[in-house]
Amino acid sequence: MKKEDYTFSFEVYDSIDELNEHDAWLLNQAREVTQHAYAPYSHFQVGAIARLDNGQIVAGSNQENASFPVGLCAERVLLASAASLFPKVPIETIAISYHNENGESDHPISPCGMCRQSLLEYESRVKHPIRVILGGLEGQVYIIDRAAMLLPLSFTAEDLSSPL
Ligand code: THU
Repeated sequence: MKKEDYTFSFEVYDSIDELNEHDAWLLNQAREVTQHAYAPYSHFQVGAIARLDNGQIVAGSNQENASFPVGLCAERVLLASAASLFPKVPIETIAISYHNENGESDHPISPCGMCRQSLLEYESRVKHPIRVILGGLEGQVYIIDRAAMLLPLSFTAEDLSSPL
């Protein structure tokens, strides 16, 4: 038996004011797009904004449904939109923000497991890492170099084709 280590490091900023202007702009856009969320059931509004390698900006917000499992997270709405509008164009950076029903949030939230899986697959299909900026409407901001870091020991397309 041996132990393997997985090291995960990310940047922590005290507030949006410490970000460079490009990243601050992206996070502010993600904050804005929370307004387009359709979240009448959870009252938890999430916004995601991506800057693509070709300079285009793509947005996503969570879209819920009375049949709860039908709902979509902001991140996967964004990925589906980016793939449909600009197929094969890498995503350079994605910023994610949110607020609760009182319009408040004071710390970063991380993508859920399903969205981590989708972000990972997007990275591999366009062969480009996705930087991830996480922040609420206020408070600390996290920056992660590549989305794959959020999902160690991940299940990938290669596993489907590997011989038993
Ligand atoms: N949600 C997102 O859109 N992204 C996340 O990273 C976490 C959760 C949504 C799903 C659901 O509409 C609501 O937030 C509460 O879970």
